[in-house]
Parts: sequence; structure tokens; C-alpha cells
Amino acid sequence: MIQPNLLLGVNIDHVVTLRQARYRTMLDSPNAEPSVLAAALESEAAGAHSITVHLRADRRHIQDADVHLLRQNIATKLNLEMGNTREILDIALAIRPDFVCMVPESREEVTTEGGLDVAGQREALRTTVKALSDNGTRVSMFIDPDLDQVRASAEIGAAMIELHTGTFANHTGDLRKAEVDRLCAAAELGHALGLQINAGHGLTTKNLPDLWPVPHLAELNIGHHIVSRAVFIGLRTAVQEMLAVMATYRD
Ligand code: PXP
Repeated sequence: MIQPNLLLGVNIDHVVTLRQARYRTMLDSPNAEPSVLAAALESEAAGAHSITVHLRADRRHIQDADVHLLRQNIATKLNLEMGNTREILDIALAIRPDFVCMVPESREEVTTEGGLDVAGQREALRTTVKALSDNGTRVSMFIDPDLDQVRASAEIGAAMIELHTGTFANHTGDLRKAEVDRLCAAAELGHALGLQINAGHGLTTKNLPDLWPVPHLAELNIGHHIVSRAVFIGLRTAVQEMLAVMATYRD
């Protein structure tokens, strides 16, 4: 099994997007597939280090029962992405995921579009981070590579930041290089402040090598590309393919 020096969280939301497209109103059908648990177990068999799911307020893909099922049956770590609402916080406190990644959430977005404004919501986030941390969950902030957001994340007591790589992924050439510089500065500062540095959004086997100048990366969370590749080569192979590229990272 490939053991890269940074960890991979496989985001399996889109496996459930497929199930919901057909079975949203008949989840107890014997035909309801693909199985979220089978996807998690395949990812783990391929060497994934954690399983990431986003329980959205609108429940467009992952359902509460999916999170419970994963919590009870996976062998690696469970990383729950969530918006800062009382409803989802109560679920997280009951399920006790290993990690929570706080994300911004609006109903109109197709996927998480920008980083969380930690600096603008310090008090609300500080309370949530404390409640989760006291309950045994390590908390991450999904932020743009902005130094004020990095400082604010450390200041409110987060253990980790996940740097939003969407802008990096959606550009090429000089624009991508400029974004890599921002990611480098954010990672340097976060590391100096004692934060674990994660990254995610829009990452693919093709664009990852361009991210490698970023120092101190500990974990990547990747979903869309892995699930897309899985359609053609199977989930296990798609995860292994990603891990093989990740093995080329040197901090
Ligand atoms: N990290 C966070 C916080 C996300 O919201 C997402 C998208 O759900 C990802 C990582 C994974 O992004 P992608 O599906 O583009 O790989």
C-alpha cells in the first residue's frame, strides 16, 4: 500500500449525490445504491486515511443516517464538514466525528464556493470550536489563503486550517503561481502559529504537483476528481492513483 507523507481524506459526498438522484424519496428501497458505506470501505482498502462527508442543512446528499452508519463502521477517521448552525452542531456533538471542518454554506451554491470568514464571526465560531473540542473532536477552519483568516483561526482555538485551493485549481499559468504564493504564505503563518495545515477543493492528480511548493501540508481532502475517476477505473484504483501522486510531496 502506498504511504505518502501527507494524509488523504476521501470526500464521498458525490457517491451519495448519485444515490439521491434516484432514491431521495425511497431510501429504504432494497435498490437504493450506491452504498455510502461500501464507498468508505473501498477508500479505506485503497489506503485513505480518513472519510470526509458534508452534512448540509438542505441534506442534498449526505443524510444523518449516513453519518451514523459511517461513524459506527469505518476503521479510519471520520471528518465531518459542517456549517455553523445549532442543528448540525448538536448532531456533531452526538456523533463525535474525529475531525470537524467548519465551512461556509449557502443553499444556492453548487459546492462550497469560498472560505469561511473566521475573522468576521469570531465569537460564534469560538463557541462552536470549544464545544466540539471539549467533546473530543479536532476542529479545522476551511479558509481562503488570507493571513487575517489564518490568524483568526488560531486565535479562536482551532487546531487546524484547511486552505481552500479552489482558486488555485481553477486557474493556470501566472494566476495559479500567484495563488501558490498566497497558499505558501498562509501555510507558513499557520504552521508558525501551531496550526495543522490541510488543503482541499478542486484538487486532481494533474494539478497536485503545482501545489507542492506549499510547505507543511499534513492532509488533503479530495472528492470530486476521485469519484469522477472512479466511474471509469473504480474507486479503489482512483484512490490509489491519487495516493501515488501524493507520495511525491516533500515538505
Ligand atoms: N474540502 C472542503 C472543505 C470541501 O467543502 C470540499 C468540497 O465538498 C472538499 C474539500 C473537496 O473538494 P473537491 O470535491 O473539489 O475535491
